[in-house]
Amino acid sequence: MPTPWEIIGEEGFTRLTRAFYARVPRDDILGPMYPPDDLDGAELRLRLFLIFRFGGPDTYVQRRGHPRLRLRHAPFPLDARAAERWLALMDAALEEAGLPQSVAAELRAYFRETAHFLINTGQAPPEPLVTLVFVDADANTPIGSATVRRAAIEGGFAPGTRFGLSGVNYVLARAEPAPGGDNDRVMMYVAREHAEHEKDRP
Ligand code: HEM
Repeated sequence: MPTPWEIIGEEGFTRLTRAFYARVPRDDILGPMYPPDDLDGAELRLRLFLIFRFGGPDTYVQRRGHPRLRLRHAPFPLDARAAERWLALMDAALEEAGLPQSVAAELRAYFRETAHFLINTGQAPPEPLVTLVFVDADANTPIGSATVRRAAIEGGFAPGTRFGLSGVNYVLARAEPAPGGDNDRVMMYVAREHAEHEKDRP
């Protein structure tokens, strides 16, 4: 099977990388990452790399050494959004360059895999947090607050649960969502525990 290099040659790779880099500077995510005064250099590096990778001469390696793409991309905050944008620009460039279907499909598959492999940040979604606002149930005054992972409070709050706050023991009277539909805050109405005990005393 002929390699992409044999089919599209230097001319095809030039058309592709030119169409790609024509889109980079005006892209809101990718534009700021690339060197504004060396876009021609960046275009050449990508072109030589692709030529080397897809069956052509190894000029890229002679000039730049081993590709080490993950290492070379480490300075850029490359999250899933940046990768998808890179792929979208490259899809448009493939379209514009009008390469033969078989070559376009091979390159597209390689780009997709490599772009995802290069992701170096933002893989784990941020942990959702909840702020618990403790309120004295009798005096209706805030006593303190704590921010915890939402997962830590799954299962809800049982009235009667005991809390130590600033060295004082409290017991939960009731828990309610914060007013105003703020899902990230929960009002925890608590009573001083000794008051409960005293009440219970005969
Ligand atoms: C996933 C999103 C990507 C982003 C945001 C990104 C970003 C960048 C940036 C900012 C540069 C520096 C430009 C320069 O001065 O050369 C660069 C270089 C480069 N990128 Fe990417 N890139 C991505 C994906 C890819 C993919 C999929 C490939 C594989 C074809 C690739 C291959 C290269 C190469 C060969 C260089 C030049 C490395 C060198 O010799 O210094 N990149 N990239």
